Amino acid sequence: DWQMSSFVKAAIGQIRARVGQRRVLCALSGGVDSSVAAVMVHKAIGKNLTCIFVDHGMLRKNEGDEVEQVFRRQFDMNLIRVDAGERFLSRLAGVSEPEKKRKIIGEEFIRVFEEESKKLGRMDFLCQGTIYPDVVESGTGEAAVIKSHHNVGGLPENIGFEGIIEPLRNLFKDEVRRVGLELGIPEKLVWRQPFPGPGLAVRIMGDITPEKLELLKEADAIFREEISAAGLDRSINQYFAVLTNIRSVGVMGDGRTYDHTIALRGVTTSDFMTADWARIPYEVLDRVSTRIVNEVKHINRVVYDITSKPPATIEWE
Ligand code: XMP
Repeated sequence: DWQMSSFVKAAIGQIRARVGQRRVLCALSGGVDSSVAAVMVHKAIGKNLTCIFVDHGMLRKNEGDEVEQVFRRQFDMNLIRVDAGERFLSRLAGVSEPEKKRKIIGEEFIRVFEEESKKLGRMDFLCQGTIYPDVVESGTGEAAVIKSHHNVGGLPENIGFEGIIEPLRNLFKDEVRRVGLELGIPEKLVWRQPFPGPGLAVRIMGDITPEKLELLKEADAIFREEISAAGLDRSINQYFAVLTNIRSVGVMGDGRTYDHTIALRGVTTSDFMTADWARIPYEVLDRVSTRIVNEVKHINRVVYDITSKPPATIEWE
């Protein structure tokens, strides 16, 4: 892809020219956009880029380690991983209202990020993974409201940077993925499905406990594993498990159980504004359900969400 490679070369050259010997800070989420932006800046200025990855503990199973693996091991980047799971959990204890969860996570995220960045001394630029659709949406009107509500990692602009570096500002999502591949970022990350900033916190209905978080991580990992094994991971645009607040009766051996219900959600969509529920083959759903009830203790029922958006949203909270 010579077009892409010359675009990437030129963009890297521009960043290098603009930054010179100064230092850049990046908030890495592990999502496609911030990852591609960070690697691009890294290619331009190497160790003068520092990335802070705030692991709020609400990521999917193994996700924090995977981020570390790619950026530290593969690219040898300056990566600071902050394991703040316990801090977030204690702030969230007893909170069940979805918007309140979002607010707490958003605020805490900024607090942790600021605390860490203060330790680094003077940083001249902030790197952000803004892409073209973000630029368009953050104008005015309804789209802007939706966006601000969704963007947990939105950082305060007055942290005192000389400027913002947004290498993906003119690109659409598919172009960002092509750039990512060109830069050597693993396909798994480049094709990662969208994941909400507040993470699993909005996929546990009601209040969050470490036990519930663990159940959900395990069930969700099984679902993702089986979808990949069935070769469906690129045709279903977003899929995940939800820990509902339903407990119901079941039987196991001679005993009666009274345990949690997991809901599976899978959608096909082009823009996430509207979405259709994914027609996952029954055999795949069957394998997922059997594995979840067998392998994850305290789950005795699995249901599949067959509502489209609208009227339902993609997430349950
Ligand atoms: P809904 O549930 O509104 O989701 O149909 C549409 C898309 O937005 C994602 N989403 C979020 N992303 N912070 C985010 O960064 C959030 O609070 C949030 N809530 C929903 C959702 O995963 C889907 O891709």
